[in-house]
Amino acid sequence: MTHTVTLIPGDGIGQEVIPAARAVLERLGVPLTFQQAEAGFGTFQARGTALPDDTLRLCEASDAILFGATGSPLGRVEGYHSPILALRRHFDLFANLRPACADGIDVLIVRENTEGLYSGRERLEDDGQTAIAERVITARASRRIVRAACEQALRRCRRLTLVHKANVLRETCGLFRRVGLEVAQDYPELHVDELLVDTAALMLVQNPARFDVIVTTNLFGDILSDLVAGLAGGLGLAPSANIGASPPALFEPVHGSAPDIAGRGVADPRAAILSALMMLDYLGYERLASAARRVVLATAHTGSTQRTTEAICTRLERELHV
Ligand code: IPM
Ligand code: MN
Repeated sequence: MTHTVTLIPGDGIGQEVIPAARAVLERLGVPLTFQQAEAGFGTFQARGTALPDDTLRLCEASDAILFGATGSPLGRVEGYHSPILALRRHFDLFANLRPACADGIDVLIVRENTEGLYSGRERLEDDGQTAIAERVITARASRRIVRAACEQALRRCRRLTLVHKANVLRETCGLFRRVGLEVAQDYPELHVDELLVDTAALMLVQNPARFDVIVTTNLFGDILSDLVAGLAGGLGLAPSANIGASPPALFEPVHGSAPDIAGRGVADPRAAILSALMMLDYLGYERLASAARRVVLATAHTGSTQRTTEAICTRLERELHV
């Protein structure tokens, strides 16, 4: 059976690393049908929308989406909405899985992906002097993300850490914490503990080996996933999966569009390739994906996107006989 994969390179180095990931997928010989679609800030400038309807239709008709990056302007640009946030919302991709694995660290961050400070409920008061963001936390979203994290922990080292800031955000984090601890009771096989997010950041730096799976709310997960990526070899090696209750799921490197190096052929393709391998896990090719992952992690970035991709393909051929 063939699976349909929509490729969205997006902006900046997305244009360089997604073709690299596709080359690796083709080399692995998995029966995939690729379709190409566009989204991002460049698309917004050309077509007036960052996520055109035709892209959405192609995504709806696929099993998985492999997404490169989008540039997000720091200030407000009239009419521009981040396509990655829109895709997460449209497909209700509530679980953002962000693994980091290197010497002395093997952590999976399970980030809630649909609410929290990403609810879009933000406003500037009329006087222009006060800005307010609403942090939405629901029992339903908390329950399903903690359940997803527990399921992941069962397949790993059976340790789960709930990360929150319930000492200050008594209602929002309080609810997340309460529901999370309740859900975790259904998993007596797991060793479950909790940490305040600031302490978690400190402990991640000082003693990363104490962690296995971390589950947390949207913005904390965003920040901590860059932190663990930094601990585990940098953003060049950080993949992610955005998964909902049903297909399509979306896979993307954590690194973003990197405008400073875009267009020069020097981007590290390994995060995109590792994201493509998470996609293979999702599509049911776990054994092949694990074997390929070992090869990718053992291959250094040469400084050239193309040469690194070729080196990975050559090793895959030699070591996996693909
Ligand atoms: C990420 C990114 C996105 C996020 C941005 C581009 C909206 O930082 O995937 O981590 O904040 O989720
Ligand atoms: Mn981020």
